[in-house]
Amino acid sequence: MTADGFHIPTNLIDHLHSSEKIVVLTGAGISAESGVPTFREAKTGLWSQYDPQELATPEAFNSNPELVWKWYTWRQRLIATAYPNAGHKALVSLEEYQANQAAGFVLITQNVDGLHQRAGSRNIIELHGNIFRTRCINQCRRDEQGPGQNTFPPRCPNCNGLLRPDVVWFGENLPREALLQASLASQTCDTFFSIGTSSTVEPAKSLPYGAKQSGAVIIEINPNPTSLSHSADFSLNGPAGIILPEIISSIRRES
Ligand code: OAD
Repeated sequence: MTADGFHIPTNLIDHLHSSEKIVVLTGAGISAESGVPTFREAKTGLWSQYDPQELATPEAFNSNPELVWKWYTWRQRLIATAYPNAGHKALVSLEEYQANQAAGFVLITQNVDGLHQRAGSRNIIELHGNIFRTRCINQCRRDEQGPGQNTFPPRCPNCNGLLRPDVVWFGENLPREALLQASLASQTCDTFFSIGTSSTVEPAKSLPYGAKQSGAVIIEINPNPTSLSHSADFSLNGPAGIILPEIISSIRRES
């Protein structure tokens, strides 16, 4: 039982003790306690205040790159002043705890904020890109692009084409290799955590079902119910920054 009254079921901790491969899928909710807004929550979610069609589509970028870049620059600054929270840090501990298991631990994130990396997580798959990376719209020298170009909107030093944030926009495909690795990891794990995601966006929302079909135990952590909740073996209704540290304490206490 946490100080806030959350109870972590003993059979969940027993399962984690014997788990050989843990996959974690995170969404915007894990960064909420760091002060980074989510997307779909009423009032506070970004998509309740901004129109994604004007800011997060290739068409929006083609018609008004300045507006799109202003919005992404605002988000970059907001994220740069945020810090990883207790939930991010607990996932680092979970990865360390799993280090003695050969198949180990994979963290799949839909977040573009880089807070898992800053917390110290290592085996991370970024499904939707990273807000601090840019890439040339002409797809040249992708690996050599970085922030800090002098013009606004920034331009490619190689071909002078526009640089865009290296994130996945509505209507675009996910990075192929990242999606392949995420699907494979999900289908071969015995524990799948879905944390802080509304489970509304494909293909990420299908990953837990791939895991479940392969026999994995599904654990959801979210203060609100989602489309996944009724399929989860454990639905822990609370903030990740409280529940995840309690899971880590329980694992250590009972091992
Ligand atoms: P959403 O905004 O859709 O969902 C955030 C979820 O986090 C909600 O279900 C909240 O209940 C939950 N939540 C809020 N606070 C929490 C906390 N402290 N602990 C745990 N959960 C909490 O965000 P995503 O599911 O990540 O795509 O959205 C998926 C994708 O849609 C995003 O990656 C983004 C967006 O359009 C791209 O940018 C490509």
